[in-house]
Amino acid sequence: MNQETIVVLDFGGQYNQLIARRVRECEVYAEVHPYTMPLEKLKEMNPKGIIFTGGPNSVYLEDSPTYTEEIFKLGIPILGICYGSQLMAHKLGGRVATAPVSEYGHTKTMLCDAGNAQSAGEGSHRSLLFDGIPGEFTTWMSHTDYIAEAPEGFRITARTEHCPAAAMEDPARKLYATQFHPEVMHTQYGQELLRNFVLKICGCSGSWRMDSFVERTVQELREKIGNGRVLCGLSGGVDSSVAAVLLSKAVGKQLTCVFVDHGLLRKNEGDEVEAVFGPDGQYDLNFVRVNAQHRFYLKLAGENDPERKRHIIGEEFIRVFEEEAKKLGTVDFLAQGTIYPDVIESGLGKSAVIKSHHNVGGLPEHVDFKEIVEPLRMLFKDEVRRVGLELGIPEYLVFRQPFPGPGLGVRIIDDITAEKVRIVQEADAIYREEVDAAVQRGEIQTPPNQYFAALSNMRSVGVMGDFRTYDYAVVLRAVCTSDFMTADCTDIPFAVLQRCMTRIINEVKGVNRVMYDLTSKPPGTIELE
Ligand code: XMP
Repeated sequence: MNQETIVVLDFGGQYNQLIARRVRECEVYAEVHPYTMPLEKLKEMNPKGIIFTGGPNSVYLEDSPTYTEEIFKLGIPILGICYGSQLMAHKLGGRVATAPVSEYGHTKTMLCDAGNAQSAGEGSHRSLLFDGIPGEFTTWMSHTDYIAEAPEGFRITARTEHCPAAAMEDPARKLYATQFHPEVMHTQYGQELLRNFVLKICGCSGSWRMDSFVERTVQELREKIGNGRVLCGLSGGVDSSVAAVLLSKAVGKQLTCVFVDHGLLRKNEGDEVEAVFGPDGQYDLNFVRVNAQHRFYLKLAGENDPERKRHIIGEEFIRVFEEEAKKLGTVDFLAQGTIYPDVIESGLGKSAVIKSHHNVGGLPEHVDFKEIVEPLRMLFKDEVRRVGLELGIPEYLVFRQPFPGPGLGVRIIDDITAEKVRIVQEADAIYREEVDAAVQRGEIQTPPNQYFAALSNMRSVGVMGDFRTYDYAVVLRAVCTSDFMTADCTDIPFAVLQRCMTRIINEVKGVNRVMYDLTSKPPGTIELE
């Protein structure tokens, strides 16, 4: 590997991905690997630096994650964080013990003389790790053990009220450790500290950029694919769109993108995807749109169990995709829009389980292909978006809110019919239009991360003009979330909701009531099914 790389050695910490993301924010490439990665393999990667993550264990327990002492002799700079700092102390002859007072959360942290640029005298050896960081700041702590005695050769560079060695270092051996977590945003100057480590201590140039990623990846894809044929399932979502465009740039017409319209897309979505990727679009690729709406509606008719519905949609999607693929004959490569969090979450070091939502229901079983290509497998979502912009993909596609693979199928409670799909599509289009307009006008301060209309299976009595109605209730939902694992209901101004209600009832036939879903996740989920 010739690119400058920082290896994040994962000891089971909850922030492993975050560390890699923070390093990449310094424009230095970082990869997460499990602590079980053999030293030989690590050496082969020739990293410019290594970061040990935190972890839930105590270093002195027999079966705690550990690593060979040889790593400290490589001369490669190492930064140990939390458990990683204790492991460094323990392995090098220091003493780790249960702290008399465990620290959790925001903690006042003071630099000691060696760490403190301000108090260190002219010509003294100041800590490069804390370069430019004031003598006192707040850090995020989460520990019950602590370093009671630093190993020989180390100097203590920071302390807290209860932690005598909140940071330590042996600059001669390029070994650095912090008990606190510089990667979390609650640690003041955390990003500066990581920047100091990767740029000033490891000597990285900070040249990891998305334009160079595109150039290099296109070159690599060309070498790998040669004259082969590539099949890509395109959903119109960010990941598969960016993967498709990268591949088209690399191998042009050798790529065929299959876009299955399962009839559960948002209003006009099928046409929008076709406008970008189809024959009149800006890319030189083979585009196949399969209009399979009626086939899906037929399979789903009368089914009201949420899990069965998901299963039917996933299964049918694969069948349609396979049939189209068969028409193409043997393909050499199947392209997937897998991204780095999928790789990390599916088990580091193990073969990556492709997340089912990339093509709705998993990998097709009956498609002949030799190999899978995953051009985005080392990128985080924000990087995928930057690549998308770099490639000239329209912004509305690049910054799309997430949309579930089973589409409106999980936003229509009870059985699915073409009529219900029409109602939810219309209502959703109005709602999104109004929310977007309110965001533009500044009426909504924090734009929701996901917002959509769903259809309840409730029908109720109403009156319109002089007539009695017995129609459906539409549910509006908007959530703010950073990870989609938990979410809060967004505080949409009442006036905006009222406008949506009026428009939906006036413009969408079959609706006579509009409700706003206030539920957070947990206890609710974001989607209704
Ligand atoms: P829930 O409803 O589980 O949703 O709170 C969390 C996030 O995941 C999306 N979601 C899906 N995405 N296939 C997908 O690609 C699915 O089957 C699926 N189900 C939920 C949902 O839109 C939200 O962003």
